[in-house]
Amino acid sequence: MKLCVAVLLFYMFQVIHGQPDYQGFISIDCGIPLNSTYQDSITNIVYVSDYGFITTGENRIISSDYMEPSLAKRYSNLRFFPHGPRNCYTLRSLVMGNKYLVRASFYYGNYDGLGKPPVFDLYLGTNYWHEVNYSDAGAFNWMDIILVVPTDYLQVCLVNKGMGNPFISGLDLRPLNTTLYPEVNASQSLVLVNSNRFHMGPTDNSIIRYPSDPLDRIWTTYNAIPNCTKISATSPMHNNLRDVYDVPPSVMQNAATVNSSRIDFSWNPSDPSANINSKYFFIFYFAELQHVPSKAVRQFDIIVNNKTWNSRPYTPTFLFANYFSGVVQGMENYSVSLVATKNATLPPILNAMEMYLVKPITAVATDPEDARAMMAIQDNFGVVKNWMGDPCTPKTFIWRGLNCSYPPANPSEIMGLNLSSFGLVGAISTNFRDLKALQYLDLSHNKLSGPIPNFIGELSSLMFLDLSSNDLSGPIPYSLLQRSQNGSLSLRVGGNPNLCGNGTSCRTVRKKINGTLLAAIVVPIVIAITLFVILFLLRQALKGKAKRKATGHEDGSALLGSREFSYKELKHITNNFSQEIGKGGFGPVFLGYLENGNPVAVKVRSESSSQGGKEFLAEAQHLTRIHHKNLVSLVGYCKDRNHLALVYEYMPEGSLQDHLRGSSWPFKCGFLYWLIKVLGALNQLYMCCFLKIGLQKHYISFKRELHIPSIIRDY
Ligand SMILES: *[C@@H]1O[C@H](CO)[C@@H](O)[C@H](O)[C@H]1NC(C)=O
Ligand SMILES: *[C@@H]1O[C@H](CO)[C@@H](O)[C@H](O)[C@H]1NC(C)=O
Ligand SMILES: *[C@@H]1O[C@H](CO)[C@@H](O)[C@H](O)[C@H]1NC(C)=O
Ligand SMILES: *[C@@H]1O[C@H](CO)[C@@H](O)[C@H](O)[C@H]1NC(C)=O
Ligand SMILES: *[C@@H]1O[C@H](CO)[C@@H](O)[C@H](O)[C@H]1NC(C)=O
Ligand SMILES: *[C@@H]1O[C@H](CO)[C@@H](O)[C@H](O)[C@H]1NC(C)=O
Ligand SMILES: *[C@@H]1O[C@H](CO)[C@@H](O)[C@H](O)[C@H]1NC(C)=O
Ligand SMILES: *[C@@H]1O[C@H](CO)[C@@H](O)[C@H](O)[C@H]1NC(C)=O
Ligand SMILES: *[C@@H]1O[C@H](CO)[C@@H](O)[C@H](O)[C@H]1NC(C)=O
Ligand SMILES: *[C@@H]1O[C@H](CO)[C@@H](O)[C@H](O)[C@H]1NC(C)=O
Ligand SMILES: *[C@@H]1O[C@H](CO)[C@@H](O)[C@H](O)[C@H]1NC(C)=O
Ligand SMILES: *[C@@H]1O[C@H](CO)[C@@H](O)[C@H](O)[C@H]1NC(C)=O
Repeated sequence: MKLCVAVLLFYMFQVIHGQPDYQGFISIDCGIPLNSTYQDSITNIVYVSDYGFITTGENRIISSDYMEPSLAKRYSNLRFFPHGPRNCYTLRSLVMGNKYLVRASFYYGNYDGLGKPPVFDLYLGTNYWHEVNYSDAGAFNWMDIILVVPTDYLQVCLVNKGMGNPFISGLDLRPLNTTLYPEVNASQSLVLVNSNRFHMGPTDNSIIRYPSDPLDRIWTTYNAIPNCTKISATSPMHNNLRDVYDVPPSVMQNAATVNSSRIDFSWNPSDPSANINSKYFFIFYFAELQHVPSKAVRQFDIIVNNKTWNSRPYTPTFLFANYFSGVVQGMENYSVSLVATKNATLPPILNAMEMYLVKPITAVATDPEDARAMMAIQDNFGVVKNWMGDPCTPKTFIWRGLNCSYPPANPSEIMGLNLSSFGLVGAISTNFRDLKALQYLDLSHNKLSGPIPNFIGELSSLMFLDLSSNDLSGPIPYSLLQRSQNGSLSLRVGGNPNLCGNGTSCRTVRKKINGTLLAAIVVPIVIAITLFVILFLLRQALKGKAKRKATGHEDGSALLGSREFSYKELKHITNNFSQEIGKGGFGPVFLGYLENGNPVAVKVRSESSSQGGKEFLAEAQHLTRIHHKNLVSLVGYCKDRNHLALVYEYMPEGSLQDHLRGSSWPFKCGFLYWLIKVLGALNQLYMCCFLKIGLQKHYISFKRELHIPSIIRDY
């Protein structure tokens, strides 16, 4: 038992920031210190800070005048948003198409000393949720919405409408079974504007919520039935509404009744933004709680605004919950009457009720694929700006730099992206690939580096591409040059000194090394390292030979530590082996990109290659042991049935051949370079020195096993 509790607590505190807990709950106490969590003493729910959910806003504590010992911790602090018209929380890892209850809580508590609660709007993604206008500074208020989520994330946005800075005290998300609240579907949600969810229990037990209600709905006591008597049952209730409204037994165990033949009360939305078109969805819950004597009859009609909702006189069932629900519209004041029939000997009763505002979900947002790509690009480059909420909609809050299409009744697509001078640093994100409708892409005047990825050339709608004034390097993909030449793409790549391929030969690109410095410092070090490497390799080679002789087979265990790729992965990485960048000792070499955008050279063993699996493994094995600044490092290998391949880091600034030819080595490497070429496109530095110091005879036998990577470009 103790263990169970410990395990449970462990899981409860395993809250990953930005994601639901093990029950699927997200419980955010807005405004508590970053990364702090605590367990609420009444509900046992673990609340987390808003880290990972939002990047903007500031934390505040409510005024000490409003601080009371009985105040729940989550109301004592809040997050407010002094900057920007729209600030959004993003709730992730949801299940698209599932039903959720989302609750935003507000306790103003005069935190800003202005003595006047602000008025602002709440949005769920693109859809308007409701206005927040709670004028009582010292009241807890919350607003629920039950909805079907259109994507696997949900954004709750606070929109400043010029009547004070928006703030929020708490944000909760609870998953609901899809059968629950059948009125809620993809096109219709239910909003609880005020705390219009009532039980009829005695006032000293005023709030029922989690864990009594596993869905964590908040039920408050209703005290507006004139001259009523509260009755309750202790016998267990049958939870027979599990599939529709799942009202917890603790709610149904209380009821209100009267000493007369009717219960009359009126309800008004007390919502300043309600109007004649506002539709409300009412649910009344009934269950008999008393043993009714055989001669007695409890029988009544349910009448809302003079309309009888029951078709036959209604008699509640003993300890079984039942409900009457319906939509009403167009009144400032709704009257509800429960009227005993002529045959009845007992007064009517009422156990619980809910009054929701019906809200259509109509607004179409950005295409989910585009939206996801934009959020990933934002994460990639850490763009802040006004990049919050849905990227394209509503149009007034479109993310800076975006140009979207707004087709009627269809999702918006991103047509243009002008991220010029956005301070973007690093490789061009692979997420641009997913913006399928993109026609215009301006990434100029940033600090983008690395090669221009191939996929840019495959964005079929692209008509304008500006990559100028960055630090991009390597060749311009052929597809881009081709489209630029045939006029289907306007391409700008100026101001990237390390780019080549358009007129400029890629061969000339190399690092300039100061000759004197090189001779004085680098050369001796390189010689030392080289010697060491050679001796080490020789030793390993001899050892390996001895070992192989002993064991009779070659194992791949030395490859541990580098990544094993499947052939399918390689296909993906190299975009189906589309860009060949050279020929190596045992087959072609292709350019590819890892998931993180890093460029790699993939050396594939061709069918015709004489080099077999053994030699392949030998190369891989040796390379995993070598770490040298002039040796390209092995990222991984592929040994997928007949497919053998090695994956290296890509060195776009030129191969070692360039270094050999370009720098002023004290050795006469020209001849050796030629020799290396002839011997099979070996381009490694140490081979040069190796030969120089007269170990030629070893070299030949050595080379058989050690296929030094002759990858990279071979011009
Ligand atoms: C909060 O937690 C995240 C990961 O859980 C961590 O990366 C971040 O640095 C933390 N921030 C602070 C201020 O502790
Ligand atoms: C906010 O509510 C108050 C009354 O509760 C009302 O007088 C006021 O007009 C409302 N403000 C807005 C902007 O709706
Ligand atoms: C959802 O409904 C199914 C079937 O009625 C039930 O097994 C499951 O426990 C329910 N889930 C929740 C969270 O209530
Ligand atoms: C959602 O429910 C409403 C009312 O029950 C109905 O009119 C509408 O067609 C439903 N929409 C969908 C998409 O099922
Ligand atoms: C409530 O009871 C009082 C006295 O018992 C009576 O005067 C009053 O009319 C009753 N109110 C209603 C609405 O029945
Ligand atoms: C209702 O009637 C019962 C018995 O007649 C009485 O004890 C009780 O006080 C009455 N309640 C109210 C609210 O008048
Ligand atoms: C209900 O009906 C009565 C008489 O039939 C009428 O006086 C009253 O205004 C009606 N109330 C509503 C809310 O329609
Ligand atoms: C609502 O209607 C009831 C009776 O029809 C009346 O007693 C009450 O004063 C009305 N309330 C409001 C706020 O108009
Ligand atoms: C009322 O009781 C009489 C006699 O018991 C019965 O005939 C009649 O159908 C009952 N009416 C209703 C509405 O139940
Ligand atoms: C968006 O694209 C349209 C058509 O391509 C163009 O007319 C408009 O100027 C662009 N808007 C911005 C802000 O770039
Ligand atoms: C993109 O933005 C930059 C700077 O904001 C601007 O100079 C440039 O003209 C824009 N490009 C287009 C085509 O609108
Ligand atoms: C390629 O070079 C030609 C002539 O040097 C130039 O007109 C063209 O703009 C260049 N293309 C790119 C994409 O830089």
